[in-house]
Formats: sequence, C-alpha cells, structure tokens
Amino acid sequence: MLTLESPLASLSRTAKEAGDDATTEVHATSVRARCPAAVGAAAALPWTRWLAAQARAEFDPVAAQPAQLDWEARLSPPGEPGDPLEVTGTVFAPDGEHPVAGIVVYAYHTDARGLYTPSNTPREGPRLRGWMRTGADGRFRLHSIRPAPYPNREVPAHVHFNLWGAGYPRQWTESLLFEGDPLLNAERMEHSRQLGRFANVRALARGADGVWRCTFDLKVQTVSNFRD
Ligand SMILES: [Fe+2]
Repeated sequence: MLTLESPLASLSRTAKEAGDDATTEVHATSVRARCPAAVGAAAALPWTRWLAAQARAEFDPVAAQPAQLDWEARLSPPGEPGDPLEVTGTVFAPDGEHPVAGIVVYAYHTDARGLYTPSNTPREGPRLRGWMRTGADGRFRLHSIRPAPYPNREVPAHVHFNLWGAGYPRQWTESLLFEGDPLLNAERMEHSRQLGRFANVRALARGADGVWRCTFDLKVQTVSNFRD
C-alpha cells in the first residue's frame, strides 16, 4: 500500500505555522494514528512515550460505531463549507468478484481547510466521519464535502477508509485520491494504475446540481493490516 504521510514534514510545517508546540504535538499524533504509514517515523521521535499515552486515548471507530447503519451516510453536517462530494462504491470479496454484504465501511477526511478537527485532538476523532453497512449488493455511498490537502500541501487530498464485519477483521483500504490533484506524483499515479479496477485515483465529475461524484470500489482482505 502506497503511503500518504510525511509526518515529520507535516510536523515541522505545522509548528512553523501555528507557533504552538502543544498543538504541533497533537497534530503529529493525530496524523500518525489516522495514517498508518506514519507509524515508523513517529517511533523515532524523542516523545514516544507521550505519543503512546495519547494513542491509548485515540478515538475508536469500532467502539463508536452507531447501532443502526444504512448503506449510505452523510459525513458532513449541514452548512459545512466546501464543494459537495458523493462517493459510491461496492465492497468485493478477496476474489475481487463477489460483492460482500454486511461490511461496515468507515470513512473520514479533512475539511475544506485540510484539518481533521479544529483542535487536532486525537481523542475527538476526525470531525467529518461516517459509517455505512453494505447491503446484499455490497454497495455503499457517502455524502460529504471535498477534502482539502493538509495545510503543508505536500500530501494529496484524500479520504480514508476502514472496513470490518461479516467475518472480516478491521483493516485499512487504499485511500481515495482524486484525479487532477496537483499534489499527485508519478509514483502515486502508477500505484493506482497497478490496482486495475480498484484504482484509488478516481475521476470526479460535477453534476448539474453542483455535486462532485466518483466511484470507488474496495476489496476486503482476510488478514488485517490494521495497526494501533
Ligand atoms: Fe490522512
């Protein structure tokens, strides 16, 4: 899985912009915990113990999962600034052929400023988030706004997905990226191309109603790639 994070770069840029050490540390924790690729670099930092303590207080989307889930969900509250976005997809079995019912699809992303939360407090969880459960046809749909890149503008705008349920363990999927993002590089485009029909760089089309739409099919795995 191609990584999305440059946590140390993100950290230094945030420190420069915010001028606030506490906010910077929380931001780093937030990024590390929500983007699995950031774990290795974060472990080398001298405040590892502090990070570990914060991680234990991290928002748990499994525990927070609503009792009742539909195949579609709205992630953004009414009036959320940003261009409206609709993502529709199907979750397939590991064979990539058969849709899977009963999969919980948890998705979250940054807001129009590139932030997960106003305070970057990990225990709050990302503000724009939602859960869906696939029906018999394996489909899901999310309604939200288009995410913005992180404030350091080195990582493309993206939507994170976790899957679990129906006998499958919690796992990360590829992150959804958007064609035309100037932050996409050749490596990310090639990685997406190699994913074939499960390519994670997706073309957006804007409808007459002003909503940006794309499709994004996912393939569930039998072995989890999830790390706390
Ligand atoms: Fe992220």
